[in-house]
Amino acid sequence: MRGIVHIGEGVADITNDLEIREPKPHEVVVRVVNAGVCHSDLSVLDGTITFPTPCVMGHEGAGVVEEIGSAVTSVEIGDHVVISTVANCGRCPACAAGHPTHCGDSIGKFRAGYKYKGETAYSFATASCFAERTIVEAIQAVKISKDVPLSSACLIGCGVITGMGSVLNRAKVQAGETAAVFGVGGVGLNAIQALRLAGAKRIIAVDTVAGKADLAEKFGATDFVDATQVESTAQAIKDLLPKAGSMFSPGGVDWAFECTGVPAVLIDALGCLHWGGNAVAVGVPKPTATLEVPIMGNFIYIDKGLMGCRYGSARPHHDFPMIAELYTQGKVLLDELVSVIQPMAEFNDVVAKMHTGTIARAVLAI
Ligand SMILES: NC(=O)c1ccc[n+]([C@@H]2O[C@H](COP(=O)([O-])OP(=O)(O)OC[C@H]3O[C@@H](n4cnc5c(N)ncnc54)[C@H](O)[C@@H]3O)[C@@H](O)[C@H]2O)c1
Ligand SMILES: [Zn+2]
Ligand SMILES: [Zn+2]
Repeated sequence: MRGIVHIGEGVADITNDLEIREPKPHEVVVRVVNAGVCHSDLSVLDGTITFPTPCVMGHEGAGVVEEIGSAVTSVEIGDHVVISTVANCGRCPACAAGHPTHCGDSIGKFRAGYKYKGETAYSFATASCFAERTIVEAIQAVKISKDVPLSSACLIGCGVITGMGSVLNRAKVQAGETAAVFGVGGVGLNAIQALRLAGAKRIIAVDTVAGKADLAEKFGATDFVDATQVESTAQAIKDLLPKAGSMFSPGGVDWAFECTGVPAVLIDALGCLHWGGNAVAVGVPKPTATLEVPIMGNFIYIDKGLMGCRYGSARPHHDFPMIAELYTQGKVLLDELVSVIQPMAEFNDVVAKMHTGTIARAVLAI
């Protein structure tokens, strides 16, 4: 079977030498049809995200249920599913409270679903979407309407839910609030469109690639800051907004979403906030990255804050079908996220394109 395996030190082997095991009672085998390439896949290759090797890559996919374990009742063979990376237990207090991404079972599992050249291979993010078939827990196979083309639906499985969920689930942005989004990629564009849906009155997109301005506008941005053309993006954002009165209160946005993974950008995200504003750390830097900012002026007296957000604080079985329905109503853009569709054999070309920062999302035909 074909797939893309990270064999270590940044080498992605596009191989025909993969075997998948039989599903256990609570598992589902999905024939992956399309998979988006998320920046986190590049981060696995460059060591920003560490994961044991060999691992079958990819974590943003959609396909057709091909086989179900003996205890599975949630999906049937032939269903169209988006693969969730959250293999939560469904029973613990966090799951019961509607926070599956807080479930202890939802991260850090190293499922050994494959043999690569005869050796045990792990599933990246318990998803392995860069393979003709993947094995997931039944809870990870989220049924969606067949009205959504799988080449667009696959993006719901990471970029879309991560960006939209950071706004709707984590920040819970209110109509009339203002926001900045740093990084107009697959994640940032979805933060922008969720801000549009939430009724944010100013949505200021920031990127180092000037060509991203049109794309940002299409998804709902009201303003664009080219980070290469200004001395301080935080100040450039404040300059776009009405002044807020005294010299101590220079104005700024209510929300800032950091969607690049560049640590210095998180400092800008804090710097562009108005009193009472909050920054949401979505991008993933290297595990050793630290944040050093003055406490005075960033947090105390002015009610500013900083929050992390994993996977859009998703409730996949609620959020994925909702996003699919909003797509069919024309309220959520998915097709417009797909810049190119290329075969798995062209993965290295896709990686090179992503490094230019010019595309929204590249999708692989698996
Ligand atoms: N928290 C999570 O659960 C989660 C999930 C998915 C992805 N991520 C992370 O989110 C980040 C974004 O992922 P993506 O797939 O959207 O990436 P992407 O490569 O599609 O987009 C990144 C964008 O950021 C821009 N950029 C880079 N440096 C910048 C800077 N200094 N200032 C402004 N813009 C800059 C690039 O030009 C590009 O447009 C990555 O760090 C990824 O690992 C996090
Ligand atoms: Zn749980
Ligand atoms: Zn991702």
